[in-house]
Amino acid sequence: MSTQSPDLPVIVVGSGIAGLTTALAMAPRKVLLITKAGLGQQTSSAWAQGGIAAAVGPDDSAELHLSDTLAAGDGLVDEEAARFILTRAADAIHWLERQGVQFDRTSDGEFSLGLEAAHCRRRIVHASGDASGASVVNALIRQVLDTPSITVMTGAQAQRLLVAEGRVVGVEISAGGSTETLLGSTVVLATGGIGGLYEATTNPTGNFGQGIALAARAGATLADMEFVQFHPTALASPRTPLALISEAVRGEGAELRNERGERFMADVPGAELAPRDVVARAISAEIARGGRVFLDARPALGNRFAARFPGITALCHEAGINPAREAIPVRPAVHYHMGGVATDLAGRTSVEGLWAVGEVAATGLHGANRLASNSLLEATVMGLVAAGDIARTPPHPAPAYLEPLEARRVAPPDANLRGLVSRSLGVLRHETGLKQALHQLRPLALAQGSDAALVALAIAAFALNRRESRGAHARTDFPQTSDQPTRQFLTLPEIIERT
Ligand code: SIN
Repeated sequence: MSTQSPDLPVIVVGSGIAGLTTALAMAPRKVLLITKAGLGQQTSSAWAQGGIAAAVGPDDSAELHLSDTLAAGDGLVDEEAARFILTRAADAIHWLERQGVQFDRTSDGEFSLGLEAAHCRRRIVHASGDASGASVVNALIRQVLDTPSITVMTGAQAQRLLVAEGRVVGVEISAGGSTETLLGSTVVLATGGIGGLYEATTNPTGNFGQGIALAARAGATLADMEFVQFHPTALASPRTPLALISEAVRGEGAELRNERGERFMADVPGAELAPRDVVARAISAEIARGGRVFLDARPALGNRFAARFPGITALCHEAGINPAREAIPVRPAVHYHMGGVATDLAGRTSVEGLWAVGEVAATGLHGANRLASNSLLEATVMGLVAAGDIARTPPHPAPAYLEPLEARRVAPPDANLRGLVSRSLGVLRHETGLKQALHQLRPLALAQGSDAALVALAIAAFALNRRESRGAHARTDFPQTSDQPTRQFLTLPEIIERT
């Protein structure tokens, strides 16, 4: 196929906070923003409740934020990456305000700051109470629609990255039943997480790691894939995906109790506000013993619950629960992926022409366990930084020739695959389950070309290789934590070699 285009756009794939920020910050450079649903729809960003972590309080500092991030990350945070991102937090918040985001403020005009697990200070900047993500996404969408340099293409599913002469030159998409080739000077992946690979998730179920599969098949290095974060307190109900009960509710003093009414986190350092992996494992253990777990906000908030958490109140009412009067049944559910496409501190992947930002990327900020509300911060900071880096990079001309490619279709994971992933790659892992998963996933990923299976295969391979327990990766056969923390970086051929 021969191609010609004098003025290629930067192609941004995904319309959560990372993608919207990148597109806006590229202006006036031409951007084609493609998204598989409507703008901002089906993104974890829009569902985020708690807010954005930023050391903007008078008693706080980026150094304190860094030390909390390092502690939660259980030895695997890349300190340089964390310092880089966390010191840009206040600027990111002010940039968002300039885009029209209205963060909640106190009567003195200061930011109203929430507290979440493993933070030593109140530092969660939030908007509309517990609808922080939707407030930010909606403001950014308004700006995008007002920015003439950005063209938006909705209903477009990215199927493959186009690679010519060793660099990414565009994206093949399916839209409205047909396949199209889009050429770009640069491609930025902002495709979000992997929750849709699991039966129990708080993420939009259509997100099953498509960006990771696209990048891996194009040759990019993946990092930290074994670290899948379970949020401890999803609302236990038959709903799919599960509704989230923000950590900010525990930040306001809500207590976890088992069916016998025991406050089982009371003696753990940090109690209900211990790092997420610790709380998720404790709740899973209670549930594995056949019990149910409840989050009781009555003593701390009572009738004030609805005013502070209007969105969560509505989600509880939908499930027939009144959080002011009764305890909320909760369970852990997949919420965030620390791993993804390895990037540097400009958002560059290991493949020329390809950047990755937000949850799909692994910058090293989160280590083995992400600190609450560092994700929207990373999405904003890295969107801004990547846009600046791309702007400074001389654009490449269109490739002279593209190899014709066989047709491919990206299919979501079926119930069997989600069951396998949930059993073998859950809160607790073991060599036997990991090996069985690899055995079943390999043909699906490689012979049948399933992107969902490929991402699960990568998680399983990284998890098998990590013969220790650390952060969100807990092995029943290797419960100890090594005294030499090491991040893993692998390409697809290296993953295949290990399976
Ligand atoms: C929450 O509100 O508990 C979620 C915040 C986060 O995942 O960072």
